[in-house]
Amino acid sequence: MSITKIGKYFHLQGKKMSYVMEIGSDEMLHHVYWGNQLDQIPTVLYDRAPYRRQKRIEGRNPDSVECTREFSHYECPIYGTSDFRLPALHGRNEKNGASVFDLRYAGYNITDKITQPKGMPGMMACERTQQLDVYLKDTLLSLSVTLHYILSPEIDCIARYMTVKNDGLEGFILNEVMSATIDFEDGNFSLYTLNGTTLREFTPDIRAFHPGVTLLGSTRGSSSHQHSPNAVLLRQGTDTFQGECYGLSLHSGNFVLRFEKDCYGSCRVQGGIHPLDFSWLLQEGESFDTPQLFLSYSSQGLNGLSQCQHSALRRHVVRGDYANKERPLLLNTWEGCYFDVNHERLMELGDACRETGIELLVLDDGWFGKRDSASSSLGDWIVNKEKFPGGLAQTADALKEKGIRMGIWVEPEMVSPNSDLYRAHPDWCLHVPGRVRTEWRNQLVLDLSRPEVVDYIIQSLDRIFQDGKISFVKWDMNRRLTEVWSQSLPAERQGETRHRYILGLYRILEHLVQTYPYLLMENCASGGGRYDYGMFHYFQQGWLSDNTDGVCRLKMQNAASVFYPPEIITSHVAACPNHQIGRVTPLSFRADVCTLFNSGYELDLTKMSKEELDEVSKICGRMKELRTTVQGGNFFRLTRDVMPEKEFGWMCVKGNRAVAGYFRPYCEAESAYWHIGLNGLEDTARYRDIASGLEMMGRDWKNIGWRPNWREGDYFSEFLLLEKVEQLP
Ligand code: DGJ
Repeated sequence: MSITKIGKYFHLQGKKMSYVMEIGSDEMLHHVYWGNQLDQIPTVLYDRAPYRRQKRIEGRNPDSVECTREFSHYECPIYGTSDFRLPALHGRNEKNGASVFDLRYAGYNITDKITQPKGMPGMMACERTQQLDVYLKDTLLSLSVTLHYILSPEIDCIARYMTVKNDGLEGFILNEVMSATIDFEDGNFSLYTLNGTTLREFTPDIRAFHPGVTLLGSTRGSSSHQHSPNAVLLRQGTDTFQGECYGLSLHSGNFVLRFEKDCYGSCRVQGGIHPLDFSWLLQEGESFDTPQLFLSYSSQGLNGLSQCQHSALRRHVVRGDYANKERPLLLNTWEGCYFDVNHERLMELGDACRETGIELLVLDDGWFGKRDSASSSLGDWIVNKEKFPGGLAQTADALKEKGIRMGIWVEPEMVSPNSDLYRAHPDWCLHVPGRVRTEWRNQLVLDLSRPEVVDYIIQSLDRIFQDGKISFVKWDMNRRLTEVWSQSLPAERQGETRHRYILGLYRILEHLVQTYPYLLMENCASGGGRYDYGMFHYFQQGWLSDNTDGVCRLKMQNAASVFYPPEIITSHVAACPNHQIGRVTPLSFRADVCTLFNSGYELDLTKMSKEELDEVSKICGRMKELRTTVQGGNFFRLTRDVMPEKEFGWMCVKGNRAVAGYFRPYCEAESAYWHIGLNGLEDTARYRDIASGLEMMGRDWKNIGWRPNWREGDYFSEFLLLEKVEQLP
C-alpha cells in the first residue's frame, strides 16, 4: 500500500483501491485506472482502446497523432488542441492573448511530507500518508503545473489539487482551474447528489448520465443549500450494501462538479472553483493553488464509501481538541427564546439544564449590540449590557456554578446597515459603486477579501473569547453573496474577489482553531448552507438544517450520513407543534431521531410540565449513555435502498457495543414483516441483545436480522443495544 512509479506508470495503491496513471509516449499524463486494488500493473492497460481508435493512437492512420486527443484519458486535459471536452484549466497569456496550452510531463516527486493548498483547508498527514507531485510544463506559455495527489492508503481516499505557476515575464490570467480531472473509460454510472434549499437540505437525487455535460455547483459564494459539494458515482446495481461507488467532496465557496459523457461514452469528471466570474492574475513568479478535491472509492456499496468518507474526515480533516472527544449534550436558545434572551432567562434555563442532565447552554442570536430582531447590529460584537449587565463572563461564571458550560452564537461575516460598524465603514461590505446593495435578512456581507476587514473580525472575536469563559461557538452565515466587487482590488483582479473572500474566511477560522483549540465550534449557514469538507477543517460539528421536524430530519440525516460521521451532524429535539412545518409528533420520536447523531435540544425547558421534564431527563440519560458508541463509532445505514422514504435504519458500532435504531414515521396496514439486517457487525463475533439476552453471531444478526416490536400508530421508533460477548477466530 503506497505510491510507486513503475516504468512509465504511477500506481497509488490503497487497502482495497488502485489509481493508475501513465506518462504517455506523447509525454502527457494519462489516466489509466481507478477501482478495485490491483496487485500489479498490466502494462498493456493503456492499449485497450477499441481497434479503430487504437490504430489512430498508434499513428498507423494517416491522421496526425495530435488529432486523436479526444480518444485519450488525461489527468490534466488541456485546451486548444484536439481534445474538445472540458479542460482542466483555461486562461490567457497577457501579451498576445494566446490560450492554447501544451502541458507535457516534466518530472515527479514522491514524499511523506504532505502539503496543503496555500491558505486553504487540506488533508492532514497521518500514518502512512504519502504525496505524489507530478510536474507538467508549457514552455511556450512559460507556465508550470503541479498535480498533487495525497494518498491515505488505509482509508482508500486521495486528496487532489493543482498548482499553476507563471514562470514567464508576461502576466497570465487564469479564468478556469479545476482541482482534479478523472477520465473514466466509460460513463456507465448514475450520479447520487444532495440538493434542496433552506429547511429542505440534503434531499437526495439519482440521475443517469446522458451525452453532454451534467453540472452541479454554487455561484452563491458558499457551497450552498441548493447543491451539496459532495456527490457519488454509482455503478449499476450499487446499493447501500454492495457495488462500486466513487465519492467526490469539495470545499466551501463557489464550486462546480461537472461530468461530461462524450461521443464514445467515456466520462470526464471534474471538480473545482466555479468558473463563472472567476479569474486570477498570475504575475511573473506567482502561483495559484486550487482547493482540494477528495476522492474516495468503495466496492462495498454506499455504506463502504461512508466508512472511507467518515474516516477521512476524522483522521485527516477535523481539528481542535474536540476532534476526537465526545461532544457535550447542549441546549440552544434559538427556538425556545429567539431574540428574547438575557441573564435571568439563561439562569432559568441553566437550572433546567442541570436538572435534566444537559451539559452546555448555547446563547444564540440576540446578545450583542441592539439586537432585538434581525434588523440591526451585526458587526457590533459588543455585549448588550441591558440584557447581560455583568457581561458574558458573569453569565458564564454563574452557569459554571450550576455545572453548565456556556456557548455563544456569532455571525461575523455580516454587517447590518443599522450598525455602528456600517456607519463607520460603509465601504467595508461587498458592493458595486452606484448599484443597489441587496439586503438579505436586513444584512450585507463584509468584504473578506480585504485584510483590514479580516483583522477587524479577528479582533472582535478575540475580545469575546480571550478570557476563556466561552466553551462553544456557533458560527452562522445567513445570506449569499451579491454585488461581488471589492474596493481594494484593481479592475483586472475583480474576478478574484469571491475566492479571496473564502481565503479571508479561512484565515479567521484558522486563527480561532490555533488560538482557542479548546473551543467546540459549530458550523451553520441558515442550517446546512455551507456543509462541506472545507468548513470541517475548522469546525467539529455542523447544524444540518433549521428544519427540526423529526420526519423531515430522518431523510436529511440519512442522506448527510453518506458523507459525514454522526458526531458531526447535530440534531436537536425541538418544540411541538414544530416551528417550521407545524407537525405534531411525540417527544419520544423526536428524541429518538436525534439519538444516533450529535444530539441536543432547542426548546424552552422552562415551559415544560414536570412529566415532560422527567421524560427529558430520561432521554438525556440515554443520549449520554449511547453517545459513547455513536460518536466516533462506525456508522451504517440499514436500508438497502439508498434513497429510503418510508423506513429508516441506522447503526453505530464501537468496541464491544453496538446500537441500532429503526424508524417508521407512518403506519401502514398489513405491511411486510420487519426484519432489519444488521450490517455493521463482525461476522465471526457473537453479540447479545442487552434487553432480551438473545445471542447470535454477527452474520446471523445480518442475515436473519432484528425484528422490532410492532406497535400501532404513526411515529414508530425503536432501539436495539448489542454487546459483543465472544470473538471467534
Ligand atoms: C439561522 C440559524 O440557522 C438558526 O439556527 C439561528 O441561529 C438563527 N440564524 C439566528 O439568527
